[in-house]
Amino acid sequence: MADGHGSISSAGLLANRAPFRAPSEASGERRAVWEGSLPPWLRGAVFRTAPARFTAGSWESDHWFDALGLLFSFSIEPSGATLRWRELNSAFAREVREGRFDRASFGTRMRRGFFEKLRSPAPAQTDNANVNIVPRGEALVALTESVHELVVDPETLSVLREHEWHDELGAMASLAHPEFDRAKGRWVNVGTALNGRPALVVFEHDVDGRARREVGRWHPGRVPYTHSFGLTERFVLLIGHPLTANPLTMLFSDRGFIEHFEWDRSAPTRLAVMDRSTGAVREVSAPGVFVFHTIDAFEDEDGHVVLDVLTYPDTSIIETLRTDSLARATIDLSAKPERWRIAPGASSVLVEPLGTERFEFPSVDRRTDGPRRSLMWGANVTLDGSNSRSRLVAVDRRGGAAKSFAQEGMVYGEPLFVGRPGATEEGDGVLLSVGSHTRESRSTLAVVDARSMELVASASVDVSLPLGFHGGFSRERAER
Ligand SMILES: [Fe+2]
Repeated sequence: MADGHGSISSAGLLANRAPFRAPSEASGERRAVWEGSLPPWLRGAVFRTAPARFTAGSWESDHWFDALGLLFSFSIEPSGATLRWRELNSAFAREVREGRFDRASFGTRMRRGFFEKLRSPAPAQTDNANVNIVPRGEALVALTESVHELVVDPETLSVLREHEWHDELGAMASLAHPEFDRAKGRWVNVGTALNGRPALVVFEHDVDGRARREVGRWHPGRVPYTHSFGLTERFVLLIGHPLTANPLTMLFSDRGFIEHFEWDRSAPTRLAVMDRSTGAVREVSAPGVFVFHTIDAFEDEDGHVVLDVLTYPDTSIIETLRTDSLARATIDLSAKPERWRIAPGASSVLVEPLGTERFEFPSVDRRTDGPRRSLMWGANVTLDGSNSRSRLVAVDRRGGAAKSFAQEGMVYGEPLFVGRPGATEEGDGVLLSVGSHTRESRSTLAVVDARSMELVASASVDVSLPLGFHGGFSRERAER
């Protein structure tokens, strides 16, 4: 797409612009030595996803979320850390390199012929699983908001196959933010069923991920776009913000998925509170804001259900993250944290502020019981080419001064909290975050004390890793 930079497209510009630059090779490995003192208990590997290739052949990504995915990992060993990376070998990536652009993705137009649309009015969905990577059985699974989930080898980061469910639920696009129920040892996630009466379907599955069990379904009428949800011991909290679509408009269309959704600025958010034991849903109303990420959810001693969220006043953040805007504007990824408290029998949430720090990519210490959890972490990121910067923040939700960590010239993304084995106090552990240098081709895995926000160790490699979205930490087997 032409812009004010001569013949180079916005997508082409981003390929060489911090913090979106990808490694020059499609896959590789680098070893780095630790600076500082690595906590002796920290052994395992960090796995992450990132949108990485904004152009391939004649295809160009129109939105950050659609760039072809990259998987990378840092294995943490006493002597150093080993970075491995590999471009996601998705069917979508193979097809666009061959000049076929006929799968629906988040915000990039498809190219489908008249007869192709007649044959299948609903387009195939992308499998460019660049949003999150989570453990499933002995493997990992890379996720995006799609019916397709890709099983990945943790050692090589190669895609082994597409995940298959052995159940009766049928194909559903599911969220890329499943929640893990630590008490039950099960994953919980949400799919969108569009056959017949549209529904958000909550389901659970064991860690092996063979079969889904339906918990319940919410029929909201028009389907809301939702990116994440809240999970408590007894409830699932579904955010039906007033950004909704009639799925019929997606038939025969070439537009990106999100472009079918309309924002009703005068409407509230419908928060569906689903009982996990019965599937029964009650709706309460919440502010008409936009949420990518929930921070936390729990039930307190007074029977209140609490959902902490990161809010934007409207959906303009979605437009802001299009490639045209990323290539020329200064963009802050800094949402406002707030608490939505649902009292027994209430019809609307009570909104409480959660400090003054704004951030994205939230993390909490889930070893501590919900009502006693007070710490939260995140990254406040400013995207501005070589002036891009970020701060990792630690915020006490009960008040008190926030603490932060930043390094000149580095853009750090999502901080993953990793607790010290055997620790009993909230926040006793470290944050792991991967940062990209804004001018030089290098990246760093930082280990930051989660309570003091002091850097305790770091490992740097001479590879440009693009700012990524999500991922996780897998402890060495003996320490799990
Ligand atoms: Fe996300």
